[in-house]
Amino acid sequence: MLKPHVHFEPLLRRAMAYYQSSSDEEAVRADFIYQVMGRGTQMLAKLEPGDKVDFLGSLGNSYDLEAASGREALLVAGGVGSAALFMLALELLNKGIETKLFIGGASRGDLCGLDDFATILPHHNVFAATVDGSFGEHGFVTAPLESHLKSLAGKPSIIYACGPDPMLHRVSQIADDYAVPAQLSLESPMACGFGICVGCAVAVKDDCPEGFVYKKVCTDGPVFWSRDLHW
Ligand SMILES: Cc1cc2nc3c(=O)[nH]c(=O)nc-3n(C[C@H](O)[C@H](O)[C@H](O)COP(=O)(O)OP(=O)(O)OC[C@H]3O[C@@H](n4cnc5c(N)ncnc54)[C@H](O)[C@@H]3O)c2cc1C
Ligand code: FES
Repeated sequence: MLKPHVHFEPLLRRAMAYYQSSSDEEAVRADFIYQVMGRGTQMLAKLEPGDKVDFLGSLGNSYDLEAASGREALLVAGGVGSAALFMLALELLNKGIETKLFIGGASRGDLCGLDDFATILPHHNVFAATVDGSFGEHGFVTAPLESHLKSLAGKPSIIYACGPDPMLHRVSQIADDYAVPAQLSLESPMACGFGICVGCAVAVKDDCPEGFVYKKVCTDGPVFWSRDLHW
């Protein structure tokens, strides 16, 4: 959770994924990429080198890496959702897991981090799609994902996805159709980030009479198995 230090506008920190991080004996370095949406990210964009940020982290869970064992990993990124997938890609590659990226956005400029992914993944393992057709396939990123799953013809795979809710919903349907396990990192708006405000509730399937209970994206997530979500 991030905001500029000392500013009371905005009052609340904004949720961000670590894009990259590293540390040595002297310092910890964390890189974030963000899309300027409203007040919080506008203020972050005004920071100058040397300015301080108000930082709270690390928070929440992370992707289940062990679940990728013996499977091909299909990373699906929508817009700035790619921020939550770059270090996962590095971890998967370190484990020797075949990893492919499906990255989509409205336009070429929305394919955040594509150049960095291109340095770690071979060209033939990166599938891009843009809604305006300015780069890659014309349309939504879920189309090349589905084509690829068809071509796998049942070869074991696992989906890791992060992006806007409509994309995650479609990924979840595709995962069901092809019987592929999928982990989704949700981008729900958050106020506190540590379980107090209950502003980030998401419905998760349950055996109770209602068929679902609410979980908190900040402390129970942000990563959930798609089969557990009650859309
Ligand atoms: C776990 C997690 C990780 C995230 N990681 C990143 C990241 O790495 N980079 C990044 O850019 N963003 C990330 N987000 C989303 C980010 O937190 C929000 O976009 C941010 O809070 C926007 O703040 P703002 O003040 O700029 O906009 P606001 O003033 O809060 O909102 C501006 C407009 O955007 C809409 N909006 C706000 N949040 C969202 C959302 N999540 N999805 C769709 N519409 C929204 C609002 O309804 C409003 O219309 C992440 C979210 C979560 C939960
Ligand atoms: S953001 Fe406050 S409870 Fe989740």
